[in-house]
Amino acid sequence: MIDCNAAIAALDWSKEPQGLYAPIAYALSSGGKRLRMQLVLAGCRLAGGNEQDALPFAEAIEVFHNFTLLHDDVMDRADVRRGKPTVHVKWNDNTAILSGDQMLIEAYHLLESVPTQHLPQLLKLFTRTATEICEGQQYDVDFEQRDDVQIADYIEMIRLKTSVLLAAALKGGAIIGGATEAEQEALYNYGIHLGLAFQIQDDLLDCFGDPATFGKAIGGDISCNKKTYLLLSALHRANPRQYSELHRWLELTEPSAEKIEAVKALYIATQAREAAEQAIAEHTAKALECLKVLPQNSETHHLEQMALSLAKRNA
Ligand code: IPE
Ligand code: IPE
Ligand code: MG
Ligand code: MG
Ligand code: MG
Repeated sequence: MIDCNAAIAALDWSKEPQGLYAPIAYALSSGGKRLRMQLVLAGCRLAGGNEQDALPFAEAIEVFHNFTLLHDDVMDRADVRRGKPTVHVKWNDNTAILSGDQMLIEAYHLLESVPTQHLPQLLKLFTRTATEICEGQQYDVDFEQRDDVQIADYIEMIRLKTSVLLAAALKGGAIIGGATEAEQEALYNYGIHLGLAFQIQDDLLDCFGDPATFGKAIGGDISCNKKTYLLLSALHRANPRQYSELHRWLELTEPSAEKIEAVKALYIATQAREAAEQAIAEHTAKALECLKVLPQNSETHHLEQMALSLAKRNA
């Protein structure tokens, strides 16, 4: 099996100007689960392909994912990722913007090496996915200022900002491995539900995670008034007193440790935390359901286990 960390570490960033490339090397060497890259390779193996053929696409997806994180951390004013200062903190915003842009370009450069017969289809999938992620990120930002966001709007927002990349990773790998259209579709849909569960879990960890394992600051979503599954469920489930208390905290836009603690307490009191855990379990179950139409073998079993263990992750 390909070692994803080793493959990413083998990419060469010792080019000039280092002001552009050193932050890329930093971002790509700072850890991360390499989840999307693993999904590309798993999709390819599941379809019966040789995972080496899927490596450039897997690298492109992983570099692209890390690009989104550089820009996301500027947008979310997040100072810590993977237990380390984010690029805009270690350098500055301009660096995060331009090195991020270059990572997007490097992702397309890696796509030049995908198996030629699949290039048009993979390029189309990649570009559509990248556009959807920008749309999702815009909704995420727009929702911070809105007070009429419904759970269904939130699900569509996270489908765009998070799920489609996991789904495209699996589908792209499957295309390279020679999967049928029905298999590609099943894997894409598995990736969508996996991604929904993954993002709701990310929202939960942002509130209740341990910064030592999660690697990000706790309470960032609360500080930004992100319309997370937790916040929307709490607003739905709150009694009148809890509802007005929550609204009072939403009016405070300056960073406040007191706000983070108070909102977390409301998430517990309204059982929004349990609602989020329930939603993760439901989307994990839907992801597993999508796998049923595929041939049952060690690769489908691997994807089953991945969904189950991601639902319990702490990092
Ligand atoms: C972070 O993704 C962005 C989200 C969609 C929540 P990951 O949690 O997969 O980040 P790394 O790559 O493992 O650090
Ligand atoms: C990020 O969502 C999704 C993308 C980067 C496209 P978040 O903003 O929740 O991700 P983290 O928590 O910063 O990793
Ligand atoms: Mg963020
Ligand atoms: Mg964000
Ligand atoms: Mg998050």
